[in-house]
Amino acid sequence: MTVNFSAVFSAEQLTRCLAANLHIGKSIFCYEDVGSTNDVAHRFAKDGARSGTVILAEFQTAGHGRNAKQWVAQKGENIITSIILRPNMSLESLTYMPLLGALSVAQAIEDVTRQRAEIKWPNDVLLGRKKVAGVLVETSAQAGMVDYVVVGIGLNVNQAQFPDELAEHATSLFLQTGTAYDQTTMFVSLMRFLDANYARLKSGDTKSILNLWRAHCEMFGKHITFYQGDSKREGIALDIDERGFLKVEIGQKEELLSQAEIQTIRY
Ligand code: BTN
Repeated sequence: MTVNFSAVFSAEQLTRCLAANLHIGKSIFCYEDVGSTNDVAHRFAKDGARSGTVILAEFQTAGHGRNAKQWVAQKGENIITSIILRPNMSLESLTYMPLLGALSVAQAIEDVTRQRAEIKWPNDVLLGRKKVAGVLVETSAQAGMVDYVVVGIGLNVNQAQFPDELAEHATSLFLQTGTAYDQTTMFVSLMRFLDANYARLKSGDTKSILNLWRAHCEMFGKHITFYQGDSKREGIALDIDERGFLKVEIGQKEELLSQAEIQTIRY
């Protein structure tokens, strides 16, 4: 099924590009403006949308990120998408989803631009040490089992300017490479990597996901500062464990972080 209300993306073309044997992309909904693609995805999922349904928009009026932050992206220049998945898994297995999203974005960027993308734990994607993409995973579960997951991805593709308050830390593929990229090509590549990584997760091959993720992370061995709630802390990032939690050396002790906001990395 396809629905198209966008002049930038064509749901029919995207359906043709995403091979019939992919799980992701069998139903594609393209919009010009929405509040938030994640919110649309939740509504569709509650109404029974099948796993692999994709919502894509040119613009969001209420895009949101992690930690109640806004996600602001200029109209028609970026990738703003949410994917509904129904993995039939326990809630614990979902700790991999944010890593899986960020890994897929990094792989797609490298595939299309030939530039190395870096992942900042858990799921920010950096290019030239600035944030080029973010992933917001939201879950609905009942009795410890996942009903559905929404994987929301914002990837700055051709945006040439950012508001002053974001400019120091945010970037786009265009700003980093000087090249304007075809958003459809970028999107198709992203969906292919996401599909392949999701297949790894479904088959239980979490080791490959973690190792591919590690290969894109440059934080290990580096001094980091991070926030846990309101408290600012520092330490040396060591690795991720088998659940994707971050191991940090703080003082002489090792701690495992399931959640934190990394503020700085001393490269
Ligand atoms: C973050 O870095 O904090 C995550 C940002 C996620 C933004 C995307 S854009 C598409 C989807 N819809 C939303 O409202 N948020 C996600």
